[in-house]
Amino acid sequence: MASTAAAIRTIALSKSYGSRLAVDHLDLQVERAELFGFLGPNGAGKTTTIRMALGLIAPTGGSVEILGHEVRSHRAQVLPRVGALVESPALYAYLSGRDNLRAIGDVLGGASEKRIDEVLEIVSLKGRDRDKVRTYSMGMKQRLGLAMALLNDPDLLILDEPANGLDPAGIVEMRDLLRDLAAEGKTVFISSHVLTEVQQICTRVAIINHGKLVRVAPVHDLLQSSGEYEVKVDAPAELVALLRLQPWAQQARVEDGLVITPAPEGRGRNLIKFLVDNGQAPDAVSERQKDLEDIFLSLTGGNP
Ligand SMILES: Nc1ncnc2c1ncn2[C@@H]1O[C@H](COP(=O)(O)OP(=O)(O)OP(=O)(O)O)[C@@H](O)[C@H]1O
Ligand SMILES: [Mg+2]
Repeated sequence: MASTAAAIRTIALSKSYGSRLAVDHLDLQVERAELFGFLGPNGAGKTTTIRMALGLIAPTGGSVEILGHEVRSHRAQVLPRVGALVESPALYAYLSGRDNLRAIGDVLGGASEKRIDEVLEIVSLKGRDRDKVRTYSMGMKQRLGLAMALLNDPDLLILDEPANGLDPAGIVEMRDLLRDLAAEGKTVFISSHVLTEVQQICTRVAIINHGKLVRVAPVHDLLQSSGEYEVKVDAPAELVALLRLQPWAQQARVEDGLVITPAPEGRGRNLIKFLVDNGQAPDAVSERQKDLEDIFLSLTGGNP
């Protein structure tokens, strides 16, 4: 059973701190080999959920199963198969990066120097691995944390805001790395409040707000067309004034120099015909995709 069980399954998972419900009856299932995004604004309950999934704190209601086992009663089976990075990694500042990896390796039952070299290579820390961690930048510490999470070649990676502190090049490297890991059959679960990050990496996302699940969907379902069109013309304000006289274009507006408008009967060709017939032949017309930010704002009532 355990071999086919979901990577992560939460059942009515809840955590309250006094009267505050940090996580509120969360039902979530992450399948094997998924690249899954866990998205929510600050204070939504992401880290709290992850801490419960890793058995670091106890739920006040419900339960979590990792790879088919209830976490807190099966730590010994589960935790060796999971690599995790939660908020800032816990590092020994007075040890080198390599010695930090050796120390974690010892806890995990020993990591070979070869494996340590491999993970240092993966996170691009080769060359700085003998420097003390207190001399590392924030992004380097984050990379070392990722190396620690990878050390044991885990089946499941749970990464809380892994892009924190990384520069743009580091973010691209991490994105490629996570994709490679998922292609190898590993399950990757990342939390983020950076919408574009999740949009580019993940195949499925869950959105939470105030501890509650708001939506779970494949990314491409969320990114469906918004039903609006972007029109490039020389005089956008003039076109908007004209459009607003039409019953189907009450929402027409200018954004970033482009006219954003619905189309008659929702058809792009009807919009183009209208523009041409009214002496407003456009330079370009394209369908507007919703990005995750729009979706997030509409789902969470505008407080990301
Ligand atoms: N140890 C704690 N004691 C009391 N309240 C806590 C504790 N940890 C978290 N909380 C509260 O639980 C809620 C969820 O916090 P959590 O850290 O899980 O959010 P998050 O989604 O990870 O946010 P962020 O994006 O800022 O990391 C917040 O209201 C927070 O104040
Ligand atoms: Mg957090």
